[in-house]
Amino acid sequence: MDKLVVKKSLGLNGEIRISGAKNAVLPIVCAGILTAETLNLTNVPHLKDIDTLGELLRLMGIDVSLNNGNMLITANKVTSLMAPYELVKQMRASILVLGPLLGRFGEAIVSLPGGCAIGARPVDVHLKGLEQMGAHIEIENGYIKAKVDRLKGARIIMDVVTVTGTENLLMAAVLADGVTVLENCAREPEVVDLANCLVKMGAQIEGIGSDTLTITGVDKLHGATHAIIADRIEAGTYAVAAVMTQGDLTLTNVRPDVMGAVIEKLRLAGANVIVGDTTLQVIMHKRALAVDITTQPYPGFPTDMQAQFMALNCIADGTSVMSENIFENRYMHVPELCRMGADISVDGNIAVVKGCDSLTGANVMATDLRASASLVLAGLVASSSTTVDRVYHLDRGYESMEDKLGKVGANIKRITY
Ligand code: UD1
Repeated sequence: MDKLVVKKSLGLNGEIRISGAKNAVLPIVCAGILTAETLNLTNVPHLKDIDTLGELLRLMGIDVSLNNGNMLITANKVTSLMAPYELVKQMRASILVLGPLLGRFGEAIVSLPGGCAIGARPVDVHLKGLEQMGAHIEIENGYIKAKVDRLKGARIIMDVVTVTGTENLLMAAVLADGVTVLENCAREPEVVDLANCLVKMGAQIEGIGSDTLTITGVDKLHGATHAIIADRIEAGTYAVAAVMTQGDLTLTNVRPDVMGAVIEKLRLAGANVIVGDTTLQVIMHKRALAVDITTQPYPGFPTDMQAQFMALNCIADGTSVMSENIFENRYMHVPELCRMGADISVDGNIAVVKGCDSLTGANVMATDLRASASLVLAGLVASSSTTVDRVYHLDRGYESMEDKLGKVGANIKRITY
């Protein structure tokens, strides 16, 4: 097991190159199941979640290799159509194999993901949509067993806006017989990146980037080369680090055009944010102002940035009200931040954060990916040393965080024990 020891590191300064987006790679790798030809992906980050998905695809007989950010996926001899519980429980996004397996092979057996630290996270919308496309679905011994001769196009109105739900149904529809209209789709940039990759593979999709996707099924997809979109959450996390430490960071290889809601909040906190085509410079020379946050589906403020902005609000000037509207239990970082001296009270999905002058270091424990990031951020400004345990959560979604932060002046060290 690893832990991170973080010491006070004010004035972070320099350049950080942002990696490809975890939440785009995961569905796009699954899109590789849809063709017997090779899908060639570039800008792929080296993350635990990507390794887990690679392992899952290899279990199915699919060739997967990852070298220097270049991933090759060849599904020309698929030998198993099953995603076992042992892997799905490590990573819920494994559910993304369901749509492609069913679309190409007419069968899939995928473990139900179960609940997770941040909420119940059901997959009912995924299943209902596939049933509307003609799939016969049974739940047996904790597994989703889905079968169909060939999926048929249908009009599907999703009850809730779901990112992986939209992605699963989109991947199912591209090889279906006829036209599928998906309504109330998630519009996250990662959904758009998947759709763009599918189009390169020969899919016919209209309405990309909107809440209605119209997909005309084709008989076959082919191989393609695709560069993964930059990770807007990783970029947002380091932008918050610049604000909290009163530093000057330039983030490179980013897509500022998909970071509008976060950039607005950085500016409201008092930062000078200079937006380039593929760069974002965040300059801060004073104490941050508290900012209210309401999480919403894209283009609203992302739930995946809520914990990081809470860390910022803990040391900001003023009181902020934060409202988490996507997941019902996404304040697991609150008790840990409070152990570092933060003043936060939670009532249901609302958190009120009173900014304090400083935090103190403590031994804290990460409970999920973004919660871990918020604890590292808090550690950067705490008066004494902070130890963040259970760093494996962080490794699921941040590529070498301690190296990237270390290079811009952070005092952060990984300890393996
Ligand atoms: C994805 C992201 C995750 C992000 C989240 C919200 C990936 C791999 N993960 O997760 O980082 O925090 O979007 O932006 O891309 N819901 C249902 N029924 C369903 C599906 C979802 O009720 O069938 C609910 C969920 O419980 C949640 C809400 O819809 O309350 C949104 O969840 P969803 O967008 O599906 O999150 P994920 O796709 O799992």
